[in-house]
Formats: sequence, structure tokens, C-alpha cells
Amino acid sequence: MKRVRNRPFLKWAGNKFAILEHILPLLPAGERLIEPFAGSCAVSLNSDYPSYLIADINPDLILLYQTLQREGERFIDHARQLFTPENNSEHRYYLLRERFNGSSDRLEKASLFLYLNRHCYNGLCRYNKSHRFNVPFGRYKRPYFPEREMRHFYRMAQRAEFVCADFRELFAQARAGSVIYADPPYIPLNDTSHFTSYSSEGFDADQQRALAQAAEQAARRGIPVLISNHDTPFARSIYGAATLTHFQVQRHISCNGQQRNKAAELLALYGL
Ligand SMILES: C[S@@+](CC[C@H](N)C(=O)[O-])C[C@H]1O[C@@H](n2cnc3c(N)ncnc32)[C@H](O)[C@@H]1O
Repeated sequence: MKRVRNRPFLKWAGNKFAILEHILPLLPAGERLIEPFAGSCAVSLNSDYPSYLIADINPDLILLYQTLQREGERFIDHARQLFTPENNSEHRYYLLRERFNGSSDRLEKASLFLYLNRHCYNGLCRYNKSHRFNVPFGRYKRPYFPEREMRHFYRMAQRAEFVCADFRELFAQARAGSVIYADPPYIPLNDTSHFTSYSSEGFDADQQRALAQAAEQAARRGIPVLISNHDTPFARSIYGAATLTHFQVQRHISCNGQQRNKAAELLALYGL
């Protein structure tokens, strides 16, 4: 029988919901799961650790999680009010996007971030150089308000601490009993083993190497680390100290979801 999975309440590029069956069996038991590249938290939401340390470099994402964690139903009621037919128009979308970019009210900012996630083009999260959210309107018939998914997240969040930080800070906080699952922005599929220049969301080859080194160091301290990435020559060159598992995933490669192809994924396990 297939296990029922908990869907994240956010749409998130690179989310791991569809490949949990490959990841979860490789995660060792422990007292605390650390997710330094949280995104939509698909892995934390579908695991069962006594506690969680969840981080991401995106401050809007972490603000939203902290707000839902603290406010629960009050926040759900507040956010629901933005999901109206009137707000599902191009005109209202751009007004609300503007309000989000100018807001310093935490409750308003967190609700608007959720509204944008469900109303913008493909659920993307992109900013311009001045850190203003700039994804265009998505033109969905009736954007879904993910109430049930938020309630599940709220329950997991009662055992979690959310921080906005770079992944290196999180590795430094790991202690005996911690387990780390790291899902960085991916190495491009068309790399070579000499890949140096590409940077996805500012995450370049040096950062990929720094993550692999941090994982080796953590493993030496007795902390197991599992990293997800594309299976490429460069990935294999930096994960030499890990036990590797590879598999294929079905990917949508065009914006209308008509074209699909297979992508090779790698899981690098350190420390067991
Ligand atoms: C592939 S996504 C993670 C997806 C997540 N596993 C899920 O299931 O939704 C990578 C995440 O890493 C975050 N990120 C990028 N650079 C980072 C850094 N230096 N430190 C921490 N997080 C970072 C991005 O904001 C993004 O949310």
C-alpha cells in the first residue's frame, strides 16, 4: 500500500515531494533533523524526528514559517482573506505585489508571500537586484488556498526552530544526534567535471564544493549528512567521500507541462 504523503503548502522550485520514496529510506534516525536548504520543507514534513532545525537563506520564506508556527489558526484566517475572486486579477495581483514589496508588517508580509506563491507565474520565487519580488501574474482559474497543508505544517512546526541563515551556520550548529538533509540549488545537468562559472541563485561551484567539505567534516564529528543533487561528472567529483545512490526522475521541461524528459539524480550519504 502506498503511504500517504504530506504535501507542502507552498509551491517551490526543486521541491522533493515527488521523490520522497528515494530520500526517506536513506535518512538515518536521530534526535534532530537539520534542513539547511528548507524550500517547501517536503522532507521535514514527511519525516518523524523529535525536533527540527529548519533554515533557508530566503528571509520571506522563514518569516512565513515563523508566523504560521506562532499564530496558527489566526494566521490561516488572515491569509485566507486574500484568496478571493477579486484578488485573482492582473490588476489586483500587481497592487498586492507592490504592497508586499513595501511592507514591514510581519503578519501582512507573510500572508502576501503566500498569496504571491499561489497567484504568480509557476509558483516561482524571484527578486530583482533591490530584492523586490518580481514574478509576473500566473493566470490560474482558482488558486488553491492550502489550508489543510498549513495545519499539518503547523503541527510539525511545534517541534521546529526556523532560522534565516547560510548553510554553513547550520552545519556549525549540528551536534551529536543531529542528522542533516541538504538540498542545495542544483548543479546544472549539462556541466562538465571542470564546471566553475555557473551560478544558480548565487550558488556556484565553490559553494557546491564548500557544502561537500562541510558534509565530510560533519561526518567526521559523527553527524550523518545526506545531500541531493543532479547526477553529473562535477557532482561525482566533489562527492567522492560519500556513498552514492542514483536514480532517474520524470521532469516537466516546458512551461505548459507538455514536454517531459528524464533527469538523473544523485543522493550522497556521508557518515554511515
Ligand atoms: C532546491 S531548493 C530546496 C527545496 C526543498 N528541499 C523542497 O523540498 O522544497 C534550494 C533552497 O536553498 C535555498 N538557498 C540557496 N542558497 C542558500 C544558502 N547559501 N544557504 C541556505 N539556503 C540557501 C534557496 O532559497 C532554496 O529554497
